[in-house]
Amino acid sequence: MEMDSPSQSRPPHVIIFPLPLQGHINSMIKLAELLALAGFKLTFLNSNHNHERLIKFTNIVAYFKRYPGFELKTITDGLPLDHPRSGNWFLETYEEAIIMKIKQSFREMLMNSNPPVDCVIADGFSGFAIDVANELGIPIIGFRTSSPRSFWVYYSITDIIKAGELPIRGSEDMDRLITTVPGMETYLRCRDLPSFCRKSDIEDSTVQLIVKQTRKSTQADALIFNTTDELDGPILSQIRTKCANIYPIGPLHAQLNTKLKAKHGESFDQFSNTLREEDKSCIPWLDKQPYRSVIYVSFGSITSTSRDQLVELWYGLLNSKTKFLFVVRPDSVIGKDGEGEDVVKELMEKSKDRGYILDWAPQEVVLSHRAVGGFLTHSGWNSTLESIVAGVPMVCWPYFADQQVTSRVVSRVWKIGLDMKDVCDRKIVENMVNDVMVDRKEFVNSATDMAKVINQCVSIGGSSSNNLDRLIEDIRRKRLKTTKRL
Ligand code: UDX
Repeated sequence: MEMDSPSQSRPPHVIIFPLPLQGHINSMIKLAELLALAGFKLTFLNSNHNHERLIKFTNIVAYFKRYPGFELKTITDGLPLDHPRSGNWFLETYEEAIIMKIKQSFREMLMNSNPPVDCVIADGFSGFAIDVANELGIPIIGFRTSSPRSFWVYYSITDIIKAGELPIRGSEDMDRLITTVPGMETYLRCRDLPSFCRKSDIEDSTVQLIVKQTRKSTQADALIFNTTDELDGPILSQIRTKCANIYPIGPLHAQLNTKLKAKHGESFDQFSNTLREEDKSCIPWLDKQPYRSVIYVSFGSITSTSRDQLVELWYGLLNSKTKFLFVVRPDSVIGKDGEGEDVVKELMEKSKDRGYILDWAPQEVVLSHRAVGGFLTHSGWNSTLESIVAGVPMVCWPYFADQQVTSRVVSRVWKIGLDMKDVCDRKIVENMVNDVMVDRKEFVNSATDMAKVINQCVSIGGSSSNNLDRLIEDIRRKRLKTTKRL
């Protein structure tokens, strides 16, 4: 379908469509703002449920009014509004909810759009969007919101199985090296594979869904990754053999902050894309703490812990040499009715002098606070990037999916933290927290050095800044289809 170049008559119209999850919305809404800053007409398509939450907890409508033509549109996520959407709801309902209910609405939205959509940027996990865009002749870019290395491992699962390195058999050695993921042969162990690979049945529907969606995403005209060449160069080269045109434009939150600062000065106004109410009372508490004396503890928006794990983590922190700021989401402790909340209240009461427990924090602000010296994290990709940009070393306790891969990379490749995967023992927590915060200065030094390099990437002339310029020009000049590898 040939259309006039949008640059001749009107700004390009881009629709950005994340999956209905906090970790996916975060980076995609940052990209939406970056493209709006470049003068594009933007439509941000969110699930009804998440749109309601953003309206409740943020100033989203007023904030985006500053960009002419920025439109917030909604679409179903396939579930009734009052569904609790807890735990692994998304993967459990994906095929039925997304494919059956969303695809049709998405097609209608694209067909009826005025002005017409010049480019779709869809979550890299939504293969159905590629089918719809191809059918309508609209260029489509997939945005993979998790790390490129986890993408590459997902992509390679078929080859790992073919080589007989999966499935994992019984109680075998989890430190066995996996040798069939190109570029990761020297450090990827069995225990570092995405959590889904631990199933003895590799035909399991979740594994198959992830492999299928990952392979499918290379059929998009291009792929965006929230990373930099400096962080993930060798693996990006591998991915280019499957999808020729990729744009590493991250860390997006830092890229956006840099551009906003350049436009509005130091005290620029920033949009917080949170789906929960932020408890900002931790900031005055942090203000009173000495430089780099506090470890921030948070496991993202999906992770849950058992009561016992929570208690082990808490004792480990209490016995360490540091103070802690601990996010415990109310829905994150698995227990009988109300049991989770009772435990949290009890722990809060007992550790008043040593720590601060809260439901949800303004994480980016917390990580860049001078009092924060370490991050005990689940290794979600946004959290990892936010920590890297702030120069904060990590203790990683991955929960699921891509996080097992990322925690290995943090500790073994980038050497900016320690990997605590597969254990939750108070003594180990205590030792690792002390190592990263107090006893082994090498982690602080390497995290500080890495932050300098990565912050350069998003400055003018840096690799991610240049890649963003290239993305903007390619959309403007409708160059995307021509670079497609078939
Ligand atoms: C999920 C996956 O776990 C992650 O690995 C994948 O890359 C994206 O989807 P999530 O588990 O929520 O996301 O983790 P993460 O990617 O780290 O995103 C969490 C976001 O919530 C971060 O941007 C973080 O700043 C924010 N957050 C978290 C808060 O604002 N406050 C909090 O208290 C905790």
